[in-house]
Amino acid sequence: DWNMPDYVSEAIEKVRAQVGDEEVILGLSGGVDSSVVAALLHRAIGEQLTCVFVDNGLLRLNEAEQVMETFSRNLGVKVIHVDATEQFMGHLKGVSDPEQKRKIIGREFVEVFQAEAKKLPNAKWLAQGTIYPDVIESAGSKTGKAHTIKSHHNVGGLPDTLNLKLLEPLRELFKDEVRELGIALGLPHDMVYRHPFPGPGLGVRILGEVKKDFADLLRRADAIFIDELRAADWYDKTSQAFAVFLPVKSVGVMGDGRTYEYVVALRAVQTQDFMTAHWAELPHSLLGKVSNRIINEVRGINRVVYDISGKPPATIEWE
Ligand code: XMP
Repeated sequence: DWNMPDYVSEAIEKVRAQVGDEEVILGLSGGVDSSVVAALLHRAIGEQLTCVFVDNGLLRLNEAEQVMETFSRNLGVKVIHVDATEQFMGHLKGVSDPEQKRKIIGREFVEVFQAEAKKLPNAKWLAQGTIYPDVIESAGSKTGKAHTIKSHHNVGGLPDTLNLKLLEPLRELFKDEVRELGIALGLPHDMVYRHPFPGPGLGVRILGEVKKDFADLLRRADAIFIDELRAADWYDKTSQAFAVFLPVKSVGVMGDGRTYEYVVALRAVQTQDFMTAHWAELPHSLLGKVSNRIINEVRGINRVVYDISGKPPATIEWE
Protein backbone atom coordinates (compact mmCIF):
# COMPACT_ATOMS: atom_id res chain seq x y z
CA ASP A 1 0.00 0.00 0.00
CA TRP A 2 1.41 3.36 -1.09
CA ASN A 3 1.75 5.78 1.80
CA MET A 4 3.69 8.96 1.08
CA PRO A 5 4.99 9.93 4.56
CA ASP A 6 6.31 6.37 5.08
CA TYR A 7 7.73 6.38 1.60
CA VAL A 8 9.61 9.63 2.26
CA SER A 9 11.25 8.33 5.43
CA GLU A 10 12.08 5.01 3.79
CA ALA A 11 13.65 6.77 0.81
CA ILE A 12 15.70 9.00 3.12
CA GLU A 13 16.91 6.02 5.16
CA LYS A 14 17.82 4.14 2.01
CA VAL A 15 19.92 7.04 0.69
CA ARG A 16 21.70 7.43 4.04
CA ALA A 17 22.49 3.71 4.21
CA GLN A 18 23.78 3.71 0.65
CA VAL A 19 25.87 6.88 0.78
CA GLY A 20 27.13 6.89 4.36
CA ASP A 21 29.30 9.94 4.87
CA GLU A 22 30.43 10.21 1.22
CA GLU A 23 29.78 13.18 -1.06
CA VAL A 24 27.32 13.28 -3.93
CA ILE A 25 27.10 15.39 -7.13
CA LEU A 26 23.85 16.00 -8.96
CA GLY A 27 23.20 17.71 -12.28
CA LEU A 28 20.20 19.88 -11.52
CA SER A 29 18.26 20.87 -14.63
CA GLY A 30 15.19 22.51 -13.16
CA GLY A 31 13.04 19.65 -14.48
CA VAL A 32 10.79 17.64 -12.17
CA ASP A 33 12.98 14.56 -11.78
CA SER A 34 16.30 16.18 -10.93
CA SER A 35 14.48 18.68 -8.70
CA VAL A 36 12.87 15.91 -6.67
CA VAL A 37 16.22 14.11 -6.38
CA ALA A 38 17.81 17.35 -5.13
CA ALA A 39 15.09 17.87 -2.52
CA LEU A 40 15.24 14.23 -1.38
CA LEU A 41 19.04 14.12 -1.14
CA HIS A 42 19.18 17.45 0.61
CA ARG A 43 16.75 16.10 3.20
CA ALA A 44 18.73 12.87 3.52
CA ILE A 45 22.35 14.01 3.46
CA GLY A 46 22.31 17.84 3.58
CA GLU A 47 25.76 19.29 3.02
CA GLN A 48 27.10 16.09 1.46
CA LEU A 49 25.16 17.03 -1.69
CA THR A 50 26.46 19.48 -4.29
CA CYS A 51 24.27 20.31 -7.28
CA VAL A 52 25.61 21.60 -10.57
CA PHE A 53 23.19 23.72 -12.57
CA VAL A 54 24.37 24.40 -16.11
CA ASP A 55 22.82 27.36 -17.92
CA ASN A 56 23.29 26.54 -21.61
CA GLY A 57 21.67 29.80 -22.73
CA LEU A 58 18.72 27.80 -24.04
CA LEU A 59 16.55 27.85 -20.93
CA ARG A 60 13.18 29.54 -20.49
CA LEU A 61 12.77 33.11 -19.24
CA ASN A 62 14.14 33.54 -15.68
CA GLU A 63 14.62 29.80 -15.34
CA ALA A 64 18.11 30.01 -13.87
CA GLU A 65 16.96 32.59 -11.31
CA GLN A 66 14.01 30.41 -10.33
CA VAL A 67 16.14 27.33 -9.83
CA MET A 68 18.64 29.27 -7.70
CA GLU A 69 15.81 30.85 -5.74
CA THR A 70 14.05 27.56 -4.98
CA PHE A 71 17.07 25.40 -4.20
CA SER A 72 19.84 27.70 -3.08
CA ARG A 73 17.98 30.50 -1.28
CA ASN A 74 14.81 28.76 -0.07
CA LEU A 75 15.95 25.21 0.64
CA GLY A 76 19.61 25.94 1.38
CA VAL A 77 20.92 23.36 -1.10
CA LYS A 78 24.53 23.82 -2.27
CA VAL A 79 24.18 24.69 -5.97
CA ILE A 80 27.00 25.65 -8.33
CA HIS A 81 25.49 27.84 -11.05
CA VAL A 82 27.53 27.69 -14.26
CA ASP A 83 26.63 30.18 -16.96
CA ALA A 84 27.95 28.44 -20.05
CA THR A 85 25.89 30.44 -22.56
CA GLU A 86 28.91 31.66 -24.52
CA GLN A 87 30.41 28.20 -24.77
CA PHE A 88 27.19 26.63 -26.07
CA MET A 89 26.46 29.48 -28.48
CA GLY A 90 30.01 29.33 -29.79
CA HIS A 91 29.78 25.63 -30.60
CA LEU A 92 26.32 26.01 -32.16
CA LYS A 93 27.42 28.77 -34.50
CA GLY A 94 26.76 27.87 -38.14
CA VAL A 95 25.04 24.59 -37.25
CA SER A 96 21.47 24.11 -38.45
CA ASP A 97 20.88 20.35 -38.56
CA PRO A 98 18.61 19.32 -35.65
CA GLU A 99 20.44 16.11 -34.74
CA GLN A 100 23.78 17.87 -34.97
CA LYS A 101 22.50 20.58 -32.63
CA ARG A 102 21.30 17.92 -30.14
CA LYS A 103 24.69 16.21 -30.24
CA ILE A 104 26.55 19.46 -29.63
CA ILE A 105 24.31 20.49 -26.74
CA GLY A 106 24.61 17.02 -25.17
CA ARG A 107 28.38 16.96 -25.61
CA GLU A 108 28.95 20.46 -24.23
CA PHE A 109 26.81 19.63 -21.22
CA VAL A 110 29.08 16.68 -20.47
CA GLU A 111 32.15 18.92 -20.91
CA VAL A 112 30.89 21.57 -18.53
CA PHE A 113 29.63 19.08 -15.99
CA GLN A 114 32.89 17.14 -15.98
CA ALA A 115 34.90 20.30 -15.49
CA GLU A 116 32.78 21.13 -12.43
CA ALA A 117 32.94 17.56 -11.11
CA LYS A 118 36.76 17.72 -11.23
CA LYS A 119 36.59 20.60 -8.77
CA LEU A 120 34.89 18.27 -6.28
CA PRO A 121 37.50 15.53 -5.86
CA ASN A 122 35.84 14.16 -2.73
CA ALA A 123 32.63 13.24 -4.52
CA LYS A 124 32.08 9.51 -4.77
CA TRP A 125 28.53 9.45 -6.14
CA LEU A 126 26.70 10.82 -9.14
CA ALA A 127 22.98 11.18 -8.49
CA GLN A 128 20.53 11.03 -11.38
CA GLY A 129 16.82 11.55 -11.76
CA THR A 130 16.24 8.27 -13.58
CA ILE A 131 12.63 7.15 -13.13
CA TYR A 132 11.01 3.78 -13.80
CA PRO A 133 9.82 4.56 -17.36
CA ASP A 134 13.44 5.55 -18.25
CA VAL A 135 14.64 2.19 -16.96
CA ILE A 136 12.12 0.33 -19.13
CA GLU A 137 12.85 2.50 -22.15
CA SER A 138 16.61 1.95 -22.07
CA ALA A 139 16.12 -1.78 -21.48
CA GLY A 140 13.90 -1.79 -24.57
CA SER A 141 16.42 0.02 -26.73
CA LYS A 142 19.20 -2.41 -25.75
CA THR A 143 17.16 -5.32 -27.04
CA GLY A 144 16.24 -3.31 -30.11
CA LYS A 145 12.55 -3.12 -29.22
CA ALA A 146 12.39 0.64 -28.99
CA HIS A 147 14.12 2.72 -31.59
CA THR A 148 14.83 6.37 -31.05
CA ILE A 149 13.64 8.60 -33.83
CA LYS A 150 15.33 11.60 -32.25
CA SER A 151 18.38 11.26 -30.04
CA HIS A 152 17.24 12.29 -26.58
CA HIS A 153 20.00 13.89 -24.56
CA ASN A 154 19.43 14.21 -20.89
CA VAL A 155 22.01 13.83 -18.15
CA GLY A 156 22.97 10.45 -19.60
CA GLY A 157 26.42 9.18 -20.45
CA LEU A 158 28.25 10.72 -17.53
CA PRO A 159 29.17 8.01 -15.02
CA ASP A 160 31.68 5.95 -17.05
CA THR A 161 34.08 8.79 -17.57
CA LEU A 162 33.67 10.29 -14.12
CA ASN A 163 34.35 7.13 -12.14
CA LEU A 164 31.51 7.83 -9.76
CA LYS A 165 29.01 5.42 -8.30
CA LEU A 166 25.48 5.89 -9.54
CA LEU A 167 22.74 6.99 -7.15
CA GLU A 168 19.23 6.77 -8.61
CA PRO A 169 16.70 7.15 -5.81
CA LEU A 170 13.69 7.50 -8.16
CA ARG A 171 14.42 4.35 -10.16
CA GLU A 172 11.30 2.56 -8.98
CA LEU A 173 8.86 5.43 -9.31
CA PHE A 174 6.39 6.44 -11.98
CA LYS A 175 6.05 10.10 -12.91
CA ASP A 176 2.94 10.74 -10.78
CA GLU A 177 4.69 9.20 -7.77
CA VAL A 178 7.74 11.40 -8.37
CA ARG A 179 5.43 14.43 -8.36
CA GLU A 180 3.75 13.35 -5.11
CA LEU A 181 7.16 12.85 -3.56
CA GLY A 182 8.19 16.34 -4.69
CA ILE A 183 5.15 17.87 -3.03
CA ALA A 184 5.75 15.85 0.14
CA LEU A 185 9.31 17.21 0.20
CA GLY A 186 8.02 20.78 -0.01
CA LEU A 187 8.77 21.69 -3.62
CA PRO A 188 6.50 24.35 -5.17
CA HIS A 189 3.43 23.04 -6.99
CA ASP A 190 4.27 24.88 -10.21
CA MET A 191 7.70 23.29 -10.34
CA VAL A 192 6.40 19.78 -9.69
CA TYR A 193 3.56 20.06 -12.21
CA ARG A 194 5.50 21.87 -14.90
CA HIS A 195 5.25 20.67 -18.51
CA PRO A 196 8.24 18.63 -19.68
CA PHE A 197 11.07 20.59 -21.30
CA PRO A 198 13.51 18.88 -23.67
CA GLY A 199 17.16 18.54 -22.71
CA PRO A 200 18.33 20.62 -25.71
CA GLY A 201 15.87 23.29 -24.61
CA LEU A 202 15.26 26.20 -26.95
CA GLY A 203 17.99 24.74 -29.14
CA VAL A 204 15.35 22.63 -30.89
CA ARG A 205 12.69 25.36 -30.76
CA ILE A 206 14.77 27.84 -32.76
CA LEU A 207 14.62 26.32 -36.21
CA GLY A 208 17.95 26.12 -37.97
CA GLU A 209 20.94 28.03 -36.64
CA VAL A 210 20.68 29.01 -32.98
CA LYS A 211 21.50 32.63 -32.21
CA LYS A 212 21.39 34.38 -28.86
CA ASP A 213 19.12 37.15 -30.22
CA PHE A 214 16.64 34.55 -31.42
CA ALA A 215 16.72 32.82 -28.03
CA ASP A 216 16.03 36.13 -26.28
CA LEU A 217 13.00 36.83 -28.50
CA LEU A 218 11.70 33.29 -28.15
CA ARG A 219 12.05 33.31 -24.34
CA ARG A 220 9.86 36.40 -24.10
CA ALA A 221 7.22 35.11 -26.52
CA ASP A 222 7.12 31.75 -24.75
CA ALA A 223 6.73 33.36 -21.32
CA ILE A 224 3.75 35.39 -22.56
CA PHE A 225 2.10 32.25 -23.96
CA ILE A 226 2.60 30.32 -20.72
CA ASP A 227 1.41 33.28 -18.58
CA GLU A 228 -1.81 33.55 -20.56
CA LEU A 229 -2.38 29.79 -20.52
CA ARG A 230 -2.08 29.80 -16.75
CA ALA A 231 -4.32 32.86 -16.41
CA ALA A 232 -7.00 31.18 -18.54
CA ASP A 233 -6.72 27.88 -16.60
CA TRP A 234 -5.51 26.07 -19.68
CA TYR A 235 -1.99 25.19 -18.51
CA ASP A 236 -3.04 22.06 -16.63
CA LYS A 237 -5.36 21.04 -19.46
CA THR A 238 -2.43 20.83 -21.88
CA SER A 239 0.43 18.35 -21.64
CA GLN A 240 3.00 20.60 -23.25
CA ALA A 241 2.81 24.13 -24.62
CA PHE A 242 5.52 26.39 -25.98
CA ALA A 243 6.53 28.87 -28.64
CA VAL A 244 8.76 28.06 -31.61
CA PHE A 245 10.98 30.61 -33.37
CA LEU A 246 10.82 30.58 -37.17
CA PRO A 247 13.78 32.34 -38.80
CA VAL A 248 11.52 33.63 -41.55
CA LYS A 249 10.64 37.27 -42.03
CA SER A 250 7.25 38.50 -43.15
CA VAL A 251 5.79 41.92 -43.76
CA GLY A 252 3.58 43.74 -41.28
CA VAL A 253 2.35 47.24 -40.49
CA MET A 254 2.88 49.20 -37.34
CA GLY A 255 1.57 52.76 -37.06
CA ASP A 256 2.52 54.46 -40.33
CA GLY A 257 5.35 52.10 -41.01
CA ARG A 258 6.01 48.77 -42.56
CA THR A 259 7.73 46.05 -40.54
CA TYR A 260 9.69 43.07 -41.78
CA GLU A 261 10.17 40.74 -38.86
CA TYR A 262 10.21 37.15 -37.60
CA VAL A 263 7.40 34.65 -37.02
CA VAL A 264 6.57 32.72 -33.85
CA ALA A 265 4.51 29.53 -33.90
CA LEU A 266 2.55 28.45 -30.82
CA ARG A 267 2.32 24.74 -30.06
CA ALA A 268 0.05 23.20 -27.42
CA VAL A 269 -0.75 19.51 -27.25
CA GLN A 270 -2.74 17.06 -25.23
CA THR A 271 -1.37 13.55 -24.80
CA GLN A 272 -1.16 10.61 -22.42
CA ASP A 273 2.22 9.22 -23.37
CA PHE A 274 3.82 11.77 -25.77
CA MET A 275 3.96 9.05 -28.44
CA THR A 276 0.79 10.36 -30.03
CA ALA A 277 -0.71 13.78 -29.36
CA HIS A 278 -3.62 15.99 -30.35
CA TRP A 279 -3.23 19.73 -30.84
CA ALA A 280 -5.08 21.54 -28.07
CA GLU A 281 -8.30 23.26 -29.11
CA LEU A 282 -7.47 26.48 -27.29
CA PRO A 283 -10.19 29.16 -27.35
CA HIS A 284 -9.70 31.63 -30.20
CA SER A 285 -10.00 34.50 -27.73
CA LEU A 286 -7.04 33.11 -25.77
CA LEU A 287 -4.97 32.66 -28.93
CA GLY A 288 -5.88 36.19 -29.99
CA LYS A 289 -4.77 37.63 -26.67
CA VAL A 290 -1.46 35.76 -26.77
CA SER A 291 -0.84 36.89 -30.35
CA ASN A 292 -1.59 40.53 -29.54
CA ARG A 293 0.64 40.52 -26.51
CA ILE A 294 3.55 38.89 -28.31
CA ILE A 295 3.38 41.25 -31.28
CA ASN A 296 2.98 44.32 -29.08
CA GLU A 297 5.53 43.40 -26.44
CA VAL A 298 8.23 41.55 -28.35
CA ARG A 299 9.77 43.88 -30.92
CA GLY A 300 11.18 41.71 -33.68
CA ILE A 301 8.12 39.44 -33.94
CA ASN A 302 5.26 40.68 -36.13
CA ARG A 303 3.35 37.49 -36.81
CA VAL A 304 2.08 34.61 -34.67
CA VAL A 305 0.65 31.34 -36.00
CA TYR A 306 -0.93 28.35 -34.25
CA ASP A 307 0.21 24.80 -35.02
CA ILE A 308 -2.76 22.49 -35.70
CA SER A 309 -0.79 19.35 -36.53
CA GLY A 310 -1.33 16.08 -34.73
CA LYS A 311 1.35 13.56 -33.80
CA PRO A 312 1.69 11.55 -35.93
CA PRO A 313 2.52 12.67 -38.51
CA ALA A 314 4.02 15.83 -36.97
CA THR A 315 6.17 15.52 -33.86
CA ILE A 316 5.50 17.64 -30.78
CA GLU A 317 8.74 19.60 -31.16
CA TRP A 318 9.47 21.19 -34.53
CA GLU A 319 12.96 19.70 -34.70
P1 XMP B 1 8.54 14.69 -30.19
O1 XMP B 1 8.97 16.00 -30.72
O2 XMP B 1 9.46 13.57 -30.56
O3 XMP B 1 8.65 14.82 -28.61
O4 XMP B 1 7.10 14.37 -30.48
C1 XMP B 1 8.15 13.89 -27.68
C2 XMP B 1 8.56 14.37 -26.30
O5 XMP B 1 9.96 14.29 -26.16
C3 XMP B 1 10.50 15.56 -25.90
N1 XMP B 1 11.76 15.68 -26.63
C4 XMP B 1 12.97 15.64 -26.07
N2 XMP B 1 13.34 15.53 -24.78
N3 XMP B 1 15.59 15.65 -25.44
C5 XMP B 1 14.66 15.53 -24.47
O6 XMP B 1 15.03 15.45 -23.30
C6 XMP B 1 15.30 15.76 -26.76
O7 XMP B 1 16.18 15.85 -27.60
C7 XMP B 1 13.91 15.76 -27.07
N4 XMP B 1 13.24 15.84 -28.26
C8 XMP B 1 11.92 15.81 -27.96
C9 XMP B 1 9.47 16.55 -26.36
O8 XMP B 1 9.59 17.80 -25.67
C10 XMP B 1 8.19 15.82 -26.03
O9 XMP B 1 7.85 15.94 -24.67
